[in-house]
Amino acid sequence: MSTKASNKDNLLHSYFSISMDLIQVDIKLPYNLFVNASSNEERLHFVRIFPKGETLQKIDIEEFCKKYPRLYVPEAEREEYLQSLVKSQTCTPEQKSEAIKDTAIKHLDNLFNKEFTTEVLNDAIEGCRSTVESMIEVINEFDIVQLQEHISKLFFHDFYTYDHSINVSMYCISIYKIINPSASREILLTAGLGGMLHDLGKINIPTHLLNKPGKLEPKEFKILQEHPDRGNTLLGNDDIQMPNEVDAEIVSKIILQHHENYDGTGYPNGISGSSIHILARITAIADFFDAITTKRSYHEPISIEEAVEAMRSTVNKKLDPNLFEVFASHIKKISNSVKTRKLSIDDSFDACRPYRELPLTVEEKPINNDTPEKKK
Ligand SMILES: [Fe+2]
Ligand SMILES: [Fe+2]
Repeated sequence: MSTKASNKDNLLHSYFSISMDLIQVDIKLPYNLFVNASSNEERLHFVRIFPKGETLQKIDIEEFCKKYPRLYVPEAEREEYLQSLVKSQTCTPEQKSEAIKDTAIKHLDNLFNKEFTTEVLNDAIEGCRSTVESMIEVINEFDIVQLQEHISKLFFHDFYTYDHSINVSMYCISIYKIINPSASREILLTAGLGGMLHDLGKINIPTHLLNKPGKLEPKEFKILQEHPDRGNTLLGNDDIQMPNEVDAEIVSKIILQHHENYDGTGYPNGISGSSIHILARITAIADFFDAITTKRSYHEPISIEEAVEAMRSTVNKKLDPNLFEVFASHIKKISNSVKTRKLSIDDSFDACRPYRELPLTVEEKPINNDTPEKKK
């Protein structure tokens, strides 16, 4: 890469472009607005066109639309931008979660792609915490069926681990709220951050191995299975600072225990039942659910009702029967679809592995024309 290109890249990474229709009017703008004033594609020159703290009006935005192809906000003000968007009355929950995902990707990318240091991890933890905070507000607007539909429409990143970490984080918050509707903000924050970081230990695992579809060699699978321990070790470093409102010990347990099975056949430590922290058991449900309902380049996703059926076949083995039942009956209550197939999934299924084909057994059942118990 030439120095010129790398300077351009550095500069571009210091700003991010925003959609003009998401800019808030009639409030004090909590971030600065910039344009690229250079006509030379090779050279970027950002100039501030509207200062933080001033109030924009609709007519200003109309003027910007006529004059500029794109507006930018400094990376350093990304959190302020996201928070004002999440509080906005005019933006839709879909627009808000697009922006949340964008921000989460940015933090995860720093974590997975930069040379790893405790400083990089501390910055990413703080960034993810504030993203999860926005997530908690927006998730209030979706039930879990809507959330799943919505997740399937969000843009996909090339690197599956980013999408997966963000999805699992959202599902952890949503499932915990189903199980405990009066959950405190702190515990939701801990659940969401734990979900976002649950696969942190994949940082040092080669991408080709993470993305390898089909059968892994025993040696390769063993490396992949090290990720809960590796993640726990990274977080256990004395220099890592967990935000005050988050329970660091629980986040570590989520990371370490999310592949433990209810019957003790999981890894890394083969613990069982209630020895696995409740949020790690919830993360296991979220991890499993996302792995089979989200489209990956290797296998087609299955519907939400079929996913619940497939997961049911592992209850008492992989999944906690009580937590699963609350989750499954909640979905049954709010889902509109009529179930047509009964599925089971092989006990060997591991949510952290890519599959060319999910190891499902399908039992075709006649179409059930009964009205579902409750339609929305
Ligand atoms: Fe994992
Ligand atoms: Fe995972």
